[in-house]
Amino acid sequence: MLEVRDLFKQYKTADGTPGGGVFGATFSIREGELFTLLGPSGCGKTTTLRSIAGLEKPEGGRIELAGTAIYDAGARINIPMYDRDIGMVFQSYAIWPHMTVFDNAAYPLTVGKKRLSGSRLRDKVMRVLDLVGLKAFAERPAPQLSGGQQQRLALARALCREPALLLLDEPLSNLDAQLREQMRAELKRLQKETGVTAIYVTHDQGEALAISDRVAVMKDGLIMQLGAPREIYNRPTSEFVAQFIGRTNLLHGHLGADIAEGATAPVETTLGRLLCTFTAAVKACPQLGVVIRPENILIAPVGSAEAAGLPSDNRFEGRVISETYLGEIAEYEVEVAGHTILVRARPDTEVRPGDQAALAFPVAHTLALIED
Ligand SMILES: Nc1ncnc2c1ncn2[C@@H]1O[C@H](COP(=O)(O)OP(=O)(O)OP(=O)(O)O)[C@@H](O)[C@H]1O
Ligand SMILES: [Mg+2]
Repeated sequence: MLEVRDLFKQYKTADGTPGGGVFGATFSIREGELFTLLGPSGCGKTTTLRSIAGLEKPEGGRIELAGTAIYDAGARINIPMYDRDIGMVFQSYAIWPHMTVFDNAAYPLTVGKKRLSGSRLRDKVMRVLDLVGLKAFAERPAPQLSGGQQQRLALARALCREPALLLLDEPLSNLDAQLREQMRAELKRLQKETGVTAIYVTHDQGEALAISDRVAVMKDGLIMQLGAPREIYNRPTSEFVAQFIGRTNLLHGHLGADIAEGATAPVETTLGRLLCTFTAAVKACPQLGVVIRPENILIAPVGSAEAAGLPSDNRFEGRVISETYLGEIAEYEVEVAGHTILVRARPDTEVRPGDQAALAFPVAHTLALIED
């Protein structure tokens, strides 16, 4: 549906030296998919979106929308923004304060190629306002909407044109936490209901996991990993991705042999020898990172490790330094050989601060990664 190949754009800094941008992004998006670009501030998410929309002229690569090249550096193709069948919703939702809700939503249908008038315009706009839950507010001046309603109006305006592709750049960032969560569920429902293909940009990993069909994690203008939310969370292929998404324990180690992707092998770490799963192929002897998510670690009082069914591989003893009861779960910090290991376990676990506890890192969840 959308093919982005080797997209390159480097800005210059104020003193003329090369600055940030996007340095060779390649991905393709399927029809009807909600695809997310996730990464820290400045990693190139907006630059990628603006290049797709035609608001920014890249310096290299190719972008194809529905089988047609809209940008191709080699073939010198650069279709202007208004001839690309793309809708966009920005971080600041930019509704027009002097217009009613209806007129704001209708605006894209009163100009350009997809122009409608009379009852066809009215029917179309009211259908979309109904979809976003604003039908009853059609005649109200737009500034008299709440933040969440204004956000939905911005979305309605983009949807009215029925673009082939919808680009959403941090569209929920102006909302408070509760409304954000509510809106992201609505956004996902709307996207599936309308079937529109969408690219969503966020630096919020929780949001990305919650709404996306697939996620591309970016860092410094590069795509570090691309996959379904579960794959990115459970099988990160770099330390950066493991640490950026969710919470994780990180250890350092090294390895004496070449290892194939998916294989298991022992790694000498600062905590001791750990049997690890390799999420990517690794050549002998680089510095390795070993990551284990807190919820994957098994914990039990030292005396009852066998009874609690802790495997004997990757088993350690340590002293519990803190316990935080969080209702459905309890968090423990356990000191093992000078490392503080974070563990999330059932709240009825029988260990208390000061106790000696046994920990086990299941091999399938003890992931060895190339250090960034
Ligand atoms: N017009 C510009 N001139 C110079 N440098 C720019 C310009 N726009 C962006 N950059 C730089 O390019 C890099 C990527 O910027 P971009 O806006 O794509 O980041 P982002 O991932 O969207 O970040 P954020 O989450 O903060 O919105 C950054 O280092 C930024 O400083
Ligand atoms: Mg941005």
